[in-house]
Amino acid sequence: MAPVPVQVADSAVSSPFPQSPKTTGPPVDQTNFLSDRARTTEIDGIRGLLPLETPDVVSFLAGKPNPATFPFGSITLNLKPSISGRPAESITLDGADLDHALQYGPSAGLTSLRNWLTALQERVHKRTPGNWTVSLGSGSQDLMTKCFSAVLNPGDPILVETPVYSGVLPALRLLNADMIEVDVDDQGLSATRLAEILDSWPADKKKPRVIYSTPVGCNPSGCSASPQRKLDVLQVMQKHNLLMMEDDPYCELDDGNHS
Ligand SMILES: Cc1ncc(COP(=O)(O)O)c(C=O)c1O
Repeated sequence: MAPVPVQVADSAVSSPFPQSPKTTGPPVDQTNFLSDRARTTEIDGIRGLLPLETPDVVSFLAGKPNPATFPFGSITLNLKPSISGRPAESITLDGADLDHALQYGPSAGLTSLRNWLTALQERVHKRTPGNWTVSLGSGSQDLMTKCFSAVLNPGDPILVETPVYSGVLPALRLLNADMIEVDVDDQGLSATRLAEILDSWPADKKKPRVIYSTPVGCNPSGCSASPQRKLDVLQVMQKHNLLMMEDDPYCELDDGNHS
């Protein structure tokens, strides 16, 4: 896998998020981050050939049912007013969009939705297009399980902020991960503690390659990382070739002093 650039904060970029990331700094070598399982998993025959399907091809590849046989004509969601007093809204899914939603599709999720989320990453979080992609899942448990299995072998060490969001524990325990706790303070994850742990890591023990953190409104501590702290942590990560798994459900609640 080719190296990807590191993201750092850049307050000059205009965005609804106070400190938008910008690509700069030396590239991070990603080659060693994948678990053995992820490294050796091959795309299966059906999914591997799906990109070859074009609208003018009658494909027998994935056993796709004829949309004319789908039982639904339309699906309408009636929303409550977002603000009391405002008119209620409804969303209707029909025609080609509904056929698409009911049909077999790529494992990573509906292409149109993934494209929308990719554009959101580029527009809001200022991620530059490159060798990254968006994957959809059935909630955070599903995604965390997939993500951890992609980077951890059973028994591998992983750095986790403490106190850690308890929802990650099932996925990490499933992998029998060796969780190394890193303290947080009122500025977020402690870069000093992280450096201490990694600088004194025993030479005969497998070194962690991944750190898990919730950068905004960490659950349960409530801590958020300041932009400076993020940079400090990033420096340690670069020194030790670490991958950060950010679980960031509360990024839009940022108050402007954190990102
Ligand atoms: C840090 C963190 N990650 C993930 C979740 C769960 O997110 P979801 O409801 O999307 O599964 C929570 C919910 O409390 C959380 O605090």
